[in-house]
Amino acid sequence: MNEFTLSDGSRIPQIGFGTYQIQSPEPVLRAIEAGYRFFDTASLYETERTLGKALRESGLPREEFIIETKLWIDEMDNPAGALGRSLKRLDTDYADIFMIHWPRETGEADENWKERDLETYRGMEKLVEAGKVRRLGLSNFLPHHLKNILDNCSIRPVVNQLEVHPGYTQEAALRFCRDNGVQVMAWSPFGRGQSPDILGNRMVAYLAEKYGKSTRQITLRYLIEKGIMPIPKATSEEHIRANLDVFDFNLTEDEVSMLTGMPQTTWLGEHPDFAIPTARSSAENRTDS
Ligand SMILES: NC(=O)c1ccc[n+]([C@@H]2O[C@H](COP(=O)([O-])OP(=O)(O)OC[C@H]3O[C@@H](n4cnc5c(N)ncnc54)[C@H](OP(=O)(O)O)[C@@H]3O)[C@@H](O)[C@H]2O)c1
Repeated sequence: MNEFTLSDGSRIPQIGFGTYQIQSPEPVLRAIEAGYRFFDTASLYETERTLGKALRESGLPREEFIIETKLWIDEMDNPAGALGRSLKRLDTDYADIFMIHWPRETGEADENWKERDLETYRGMEKLVEAGKVRRLGLSNFLPHHLKNILDNCSIRPVVNQLEVHPGYTQEAALRFCRDNGVQVMAWSPFGRGQSPDILGNRMVAYLAEKYGKSTRQITLRYLIEKGIMPIPKATSEEHIRANLDVFDFNLTEDEVSMLTGMPQTTWLGEHPDFAIPTARSSAENRTDS
């Protein structure tokens, strides 16, 4: 698969596999067969154990895979403990990328978020030094959150995971990340699976017809053309394979520009400054399906 190069010179595939709400190892095993090697999970998703089981069942060596996981807000005071629990569930002794999942707790009421983010990040830097984490990343960090880390870190974050898709293109955040050498990954690249505002958009439908692709494949190709790595989740084998079948065509510069200029819908997940999803269970008791 084509790759992006990160600021530390390492390379990642241009498409990864999301595991939110994956209930069994089968979709992951199908994804491995189809060629995915990058897997995104998080303590919050309670899918680390399932992912670890599938990677083990694949029979492929650990080094074949890039595994990314994230610590949740209720784990920020103890990154080493969070990583230890994640690695245990994943049944591995290192994480390729370890992220802070969410930059602030309760939006405008959370006055200490900058200090907490920094303290957490410094704890994560120690985990890199100890060899338990290869690289650090952030998730849902908008420019003001990211600047706080970049101005004060000793190990730069290589990636930032954001909600990005046609209709919510986050141009300011993308520019800030690009200017600072931070690779952007797009979560919910179809807009939470199937936003009709995106997939039903006339321009997206026109391009799907023109290139003989689905509207979802057009959105994935659009992100890649923008230098963004999408991490779609799929459980059906057909979808798993279709999402990798986006490397035999290119959108023109004008088409990328037209999609960027599509009417902006809104964020479809939660917004980093105003709301957070809630954990289903406490950090220590988080179990996987
Ligand atoms: N950092 C964060 O805060 C954050 C937040 C949300 C998500 N994420 C990450 O991003 C990943 C992806 O986001 P997501 O899980 O919200 O949703 P998504 O990838 O936008 O969409 C998944 C849904 O789209 C369907 N689908 C996938 N490919 C398809 C295709 N080719 N044709 C038709 N339908 C297709 C899937 O159906 P089937 O299952 O039936 O195949 C599933 O219902 C997550 O799994 C997670 O790893 C991160």
